[in-house]
Amino acid sequence: MSHEIVEKNSGLLAILIVLVISIGGLVEFVPLFGIKYTTEPIEGVHKYSALRLEGRDIYIREGCYNCHSQMIRPFRAETERYGHYSVAGESVYDHPFQWGSKRTGPDLARVGGRYSDAWHFAHLNNPRDVVPESNMPAYSWLTAKLDGSDTAAKMAAMNVVVGLTCPKCENYSDEEMANAKAEVEGKTEVQALVAYLQGLGTALR
Ligand code: HEC
Repeated sequence: MSHEIVEKNSGLLAILIVLVISIGGLVEFVPLFGIKYTTEPIEGVHKYSALRLEGRDIYIREGCYNCHSQMIRPFRAETERYGHYSVAGESVYDHPFQWGSKRTGPDLARVGGRYSDAWHFAHLNNPRDVVPESNMPAYSWLTAKLDGSDTAAKMAAMNVVVGLTCPKCENYSDEEMANAKAEVEGKTEVQALVAYLQGLGTALR
């Protein structure tokens, strides 16, 4: 009988539908508000050094994420190939995050330390020199030298965005920001990029 009332009264039906969907939604996302592991760094994860921060910007500028994910899913096929699956506490310093979804190339979440710096320089200059069957584009033009003029400003911006989402994360100190220019000045873009790659995912194996 009550079922018939609901079915014949579209206004009431609409309200009840919204109510049911809202409860479903709340059940899914309210528990996340209290979960600390999404807002705290795991042990061994630290803020990016000035050079790595610049390298990360080059990774984004060059669109590496169009072919590479940085998100190892918790499946056996993934963990056997790439190592420990990715956890939220590894991404706390990543704004914007580089999880990606396209894998023309392999996942890079744990590529840090897998190859030597020399391998990366050769690979980025011309991937086919080290992986003959590779269809990755060559990035031989990343030879420009960084001047570090806006590195400190980038660090200050990171302090703000990271501070908002991750209260327990490390901030850049005034001293670190003052030294940033000296740390990156004169380094080439590819050096910064390789420094970024070599630190990826080293906290968990
Ligand atoms: C058009 C797609 C594409 C783009 C864009 C691309 N890659 Fe790749 N990448 C690949 C493919 C395919 C491979 C696998 C073959 C190889 O090792 O070269 C690969 C391999 C790699 C590897 C070795 C990974 C491993 O575990 O062996 C690294 C490191 C890498 N790419 C870094 C980069 C960086 C940094 C950029 C941006 C500057 C980039 N890639 C852009 C397709 C791409």
